Amino acid sequence: MKFFIDTANLNEIKEAHDLGVLDGVTTNPSLMAKEGITGKKNILNHYLEICKIVDGDVSAEVISTDFDGMVKEGKELAKLDDKITVKIPMTKDGVKACKYFSSNGIKTNVTLVFSAGQALIAAKAGAKYVSPFLGRLDDISTDGLNLIEEIRIIYDNYLFDTNILAASIRHPMHIINCAKIGADVITSPLSSIMGLIKHPLTDIGLEKFLSDYKKGNK
Ligand code: E4P
Repeated sequence: MKFFIDTANLNEIKEAHDLGVLDGVTTNPSLMAKEGITGKKNILNHYLEICKIVDGDVSAEVISTDFDGMVKEGKELAKLDDKITVKIPMTKDGVKACKYFSSNGIKTNVTLVFSAGQALIAAKAGAKYVSPFLGRLDDISTDGLNLIEEIRIIYDNYLFDTNILAASIRHPMHIINCAKIGADVITSPLSSIMGLIKHPLTDIGLEKFLSDYKKGNK
C-alpha cells in the first residue's frame, strides 16, 4: 500500500519524506489556503516546491468547474512537473475532463467520491486514482470503509487499473482498515501516519532495555 500525505505544508511533507515511507502528496484548495498560499503564481510555485521534495505523484486540484476551464488549468498544472496528477471533482464536466486527460497521457485523481457508482464512472473515464472520502462519510454516520470495500470488489471484478486512494483519513485505524481491505493508497495527515509508529509497550520495553544496560555497564 502506498502512503501519500494530505497536506500543502512543506515541513510536514519533508518530515514524512525523511521518514522514508512517503510515496506521494495530495493537496486541495482548502489545504493550500490553510498554508496561506493564494494567487495563481504562488500556487504554481508551491506545487513546484512540493515536487522538489517528494519522489512520487503530487495531486494538484483544478478550480474550474467547466470542461474547457478544467482542461486549460489541468494542462498548465501537468506542464509543471511529471509528478503532477491533475485532481478533478466528480462532476459531469469532471468525468469528461478525466477522459480527455487520460486519452492524452495526463494523470488524474478524481476527487470528492462518495459512492460506488461514482468510482465506477471514474475508472471508466481512465482515472489513475479515485479518491473516496472515508472520514467525511463516517462524519455523517455512513460507513466509509464499506465504500472502499465496494470499490475494491468492483475494480477487481473488471480488472480496472484505477488506484483506490482512500482519502479523508482521520486516524491510524482508518489506515490499518484500508490496508486490510486492499486500498492501493491512503492519503493521510502526518499525525495519523505517526500514530502507526507509537505503542506504549515499545516505549516501556525500550526504557527497560536501556536501564538494564546502564545497570550492567556501571
Ligand atoms: C483528498 O485528497 C482530500 O484532500 C482530503 O483527504 C480531504 O480530507 P478532509 O475530509 O479531512 O478534508
